[in-house]
Amino acid sequence: METKRLIVDIHVDNGKSYSQAVDLLNNGEVVAFPTETVYGLGAVATDERAVKKIFAAKGRPSDNPLIVHIGTCDELENYVEHISHKAKLCMDAFWPGPLTIIFRVKSDVLATSVTANLKTVGIRMPDHPVALQLLQQLGKPVAAPSANRSGKPSPTEGIHVEEDLYGSIPLILDGGSTGIGVESTVLDLTLDTPVILRPGGVTKEMLEAVIGLVFQPSHTEQNNGEAPKAPGMKYTHYAPNAPVFLIDKEEAAVAKALTTLHEKGHKVALLAPENFSHLPAEWFFTFGEQDTNEEIAANLYHALRSCDATAADIVLATTTSTDGVGAAIMNRLEKSAGGKWYTDDM
Ligand code: TXA
Ligand code: MG
Repeated sequence: METKRLIVDIHVDNGKSYSQAVDLLNNGEVVAFPTETVYGLGAVATDERAVKKIFAAKGRPSDNPLIVHIGTCDELENYVEHISHKAKLCMDAFWPGPLTIIFRVKSDVLATSVTANLKTVGIRMPDHPVALQLLQQLGKPVAAPSANRSGKPSPTEGIHVEEDLYGSIPLILDGGSTGIGVESTVLDLTLDTPVILRPGGVTKEMLEAVIGLVFQPSHTEQNNGEAPKAPGMKYTHYAPNAPVFLIDKEEAAVAKALTTLHEKGHKVALLAPENFSHLPAEWFFTFGEQDTNEEIAANLYHALRSCDATAADIVLATTTSTDGVGAAIMNRLEKSAGGKWYTDDM
């Protein structure tokens, strides 16, 4: 299959591109499109055969449910049993935007593989002009996970989707770089206390200002089964080919680690803020300015992906604070490293 990539920016007349995308979706095909977080790979969420194509193209395990994207708030009631007061408050405050809310799903409306047979469904309204135009022109719900091969970092540029899925999907709507760079916050509102299943662009502090107490489990609480978690969070994620090790963002410690790794014959890709660029790693990919978590989030997946174009056999990635979107950054970095930290004797 040939994969077309159509540029849809505001400088060209995009009518034909949207029509092509809508026709493909209506005909049971999948289409990649930008959102404000990462690129999604979409199919009509009521079409079981189409949704199965998403799992096939991504190589995604079938027990990992998909997020449903909607273009208007009104249609939500078609898919969910009940919209609670807290859900309404969150929708008013954060939709369109990077917040996925878990609701109890109405039976027999959405394709069963969207929910992976759970009784719940994650829904969000994305805040991106291309995604909204596509959804509103289509007038149907779109199931869309991130448009990467399963396990790889999510795509933040149209070209990333092409790298991963060329030949297995018919169309990519290319709207340039996505803004936020990490996936939406997944918030479960079906439990007594709301729980953040995946941290993202809408932070715990932002949510608590609107709905009161929200539980954000630590990495350990999620891993040892003390806290509810998204089915998808158990899989390897965001991983370049070479193993990733985390290291504190202290220049002297990173410099020493590079010396030690070089003595052992390793070739190292360093992922760190711009002020580490002078250190003697074989490859350096910037996270942007130190301590600017929003900038780091926007650069994170590009940096992780860039490692695969190098001959590095070790990736060192510096950590950041968990302030604001930093919680999402550290969640993704921990996953990409499989929890491994650099030590001198490794
Ligand atoms: O920003 C985003 O959310 C992007 C863009 C494309 O919208 N989408 C995205 O989808 O990240 P995906 O499939 O890569 O991640 C969805 C996450 C998975 O961890 C999945 O397990 C979880 O949401 N999830 C989906 N439905 C769920 C449900 N009913 N209950 C619990 N977790 C759910
Ligand atoms: Mg994903």
